[in-house]
Amino acid sequence: PSGLLSDTHARPLQDLRISITDRCNFRCVYCMPKEVFDKDYAFLPHSSLLSFEEITRIASLFVAHGVEKIRLTGGEPLLRKNVERLIAMLSALRTPDGRELDLTLTTNGSLLARKAQALKDAGLKRVTVSLDALDDKIFKQMNDVDFAVSDVLEGIEAAHSVGLGPIKVNMVVKGGMNDQEILPMARHFRNTPYILRFIEYMDVGASNGWKMDEVIPSAEVIRRIHAEMPLEEIAPNYTGETAGRWRYVGNDSNGGGELGVISSVTQAFCADCSRARLSTEGKLYTCLFATGGHDLRALLRENKTDEEISTVIAHIWRARDDRYSELRTANTDLKSTRKVEMSYIGG
Ligand code: GTP
Ligand code: 5AD
Ligand code: SF4
Ligand code: SF4
Repeated sequence: PSGLLSDTHARPLQDLRISITDRCNFRCVYCMPKEVFDKDYAFLPHSSLLSFEEITRIASLFVAHGVEKIRLTGGEPLLRKNVERLIAMLSALRTPDGRELDLTLTTNGSLLARKAQALKDAGLKRVTVSLDALDDKIFKQMNDVDFAVSDVLEGIEAAHSVGLGPIKVNMVVKGGMNDQEILPMARHFRNTPYILRFIEYMDVGASNGWKMDEVIPSAEVIRRIHAEMPLEEIAPNYTGETAGRWRYVGNDSNGGGELGVISSVTQAFCADCSRARLSTEGKLYTCLFATGGHDLRALLRENKTDEEISTVIAHIWRARDDRYSELRTANTDLKSTRKVEMSYIGG
């Protein structure tokens, strides 16, 4: 029963990603480079953030419109104070036919060991953890705040042991920086319950200085792994899945044997993109690469009714025609000048 709403390319609205803070304790070079996100950077003041009540109210309107999956992002979502209270509020929402949501969160793992149990108890279903290398020196070069690999691995294990699974591990591959870690990461996660996914470095935001020649195409990632550990492609779990799925020949795909590649640069997946994004301050974006959002917070704070806000959301989705990655695949020189930062809009 998917998609009560449909955009100009017949794509349903199914997935809502909510950024709950624009702050992060990491300074990943591809996301929040230190030169830009320094001590003078103007992060949002607390009064600009949506409150938990406001987030939950907006989320409930999206769920009524057919959203079945909600992902909390940031910035680092676990930095938001009392995040478990928000999770408890969101986990009480039900689809129009009475089902629970797929409620998940993307984290850098730094606070996960400490918070896993509370997150699970609040009703979170699963987590996705970012990890860009197994080698400490390379990982520290990527996160740029001297954070150790072992702490992230502990967070992943804690999340697994409290039942926050299936857990996915995301590695952004930046050529010349961590691509020598592709094989060590594949070997490490091959016989674990964790699904490792390699992400092509994207030209998101306006501060990471993206260059096409720093992108390692997913086909190359697969080629390198396949040369050592034979792989075969498997069918997607659902239409519009971001990752292409592969498994090690000989393993069955119950955990252990699966990996994924997210190829938004070399093989854009806009055609089935059913994702809406809500920024930290309550703007609705219909694409990760959008230059502007629609201010839902203003509607909330002007005391509009649920029905009025719901109608606005429907209009925005029906008018949507974004397909940035496809256009960029067709023309890698494509430059959109005023793209918003990923830490603000949410990965
Ligand atoms: P599952 O629900 O577990 O399948 O997760 P997901 O793949 O929908 O979400 P996840 O947050 O794990 O996404 C992984 C990465 O894919 C993100 O951090 C982005 O780098 C990229 N990504 C996700 N959604 C989009 C999108 O709509 N467009 C583009 N270009 N990239 C995306
Ligand atoms: N390219 C690809 N993925 C990125 N992320 C952040 N910046 C980029 C980028 N430039 C994603 C990664 C990370 C998540 C929080 O955001 O997947 O794991
Ligand atoms: Fe923080 Fe994630 Fe961005 Fe790294 S990628 S700076 S961990 S929000
Ligand atoms: Fe969706 Fe925009 Fe990403 Fe394409 S580039 S998949 S339209 S968010």
